[in-house]
Amino acid sequence: MAKSLTIPPLTEDLAQVLIDAATIERRVDELAFEISKDYQNISQPLLIIGVLKGSFIFLADLCRKLSVPHVVDFIAISSYGSGGDQQGNVRMLMDIRENMAGRDVLIVEDILDSGNTLAYLQRNFSTRGAKSVRIATFLDKPERHKVDLKLDYMGFTIPDVWVVGYGLDYKEKYRTLPYIAEMYPVH
Ligand code: IMP
Ligand code: MG
Repeated sequence: MAKSLTIPPLTEDLAQVLIDAATIERRVDELAFEISKDYQNISQPLLIIGVLKGSFIFLADLCRKLSVPHVVDFIAISSYGSGGDQQGNVRMLMDIRENMAGRDVLIVEDILDSGNTLAYLQRNFSTRGAKSVRIATFLDKPERHKVDLKLDYMGFTIPDVWVVGYGLDYKEKYRTLPYIAEMYPVH
């Protein structure tokens, strides 16, 4: 007998499902198609850099749908809560192992909130001689932006609420939910 897939129910912390799993899958397909088209004439494999930990599920789904040669690496950024300290400073905790010079780089992030993390990474990678640096973010919260950033690939725009699932967490909880859920305000 076929095993039925169960959808984990909302717990008492979670207000509503914002984006369901089928919608996520369709959008990731579209993004992968777009990225594959844009990099189809690439001379060296695309260097995909996932920002730990939140991007790992989006990245896993996305890169398995790409039809261009690519290499996957990861970085970790210090977090003082979300988006850096009072001045928006963020710090590299774990760097990539691949050489970035002369490479086409695609940063894969879970969500753009203040924009401090991605602005820092874009600067950092450009000074290290990347040939091009583009950004793919699964979610965007435009109301929270503090810096101006160009998003090359974006999954969904969401309102200013805390969301979990599909890699995103609240204190390490709810990362592996297959959908994006909105939490009741906790902070
Ligand atoms: P930034 O403010 O754009 O630098 O985002 C910093 C980080 O905060 C993101 O990479 C996420 O890991 C985290 N973050 C921001 N908003 C949310 C959310 O709604 N849920 C889970 N994590 C979030
Ligand atoms: Mg993150």
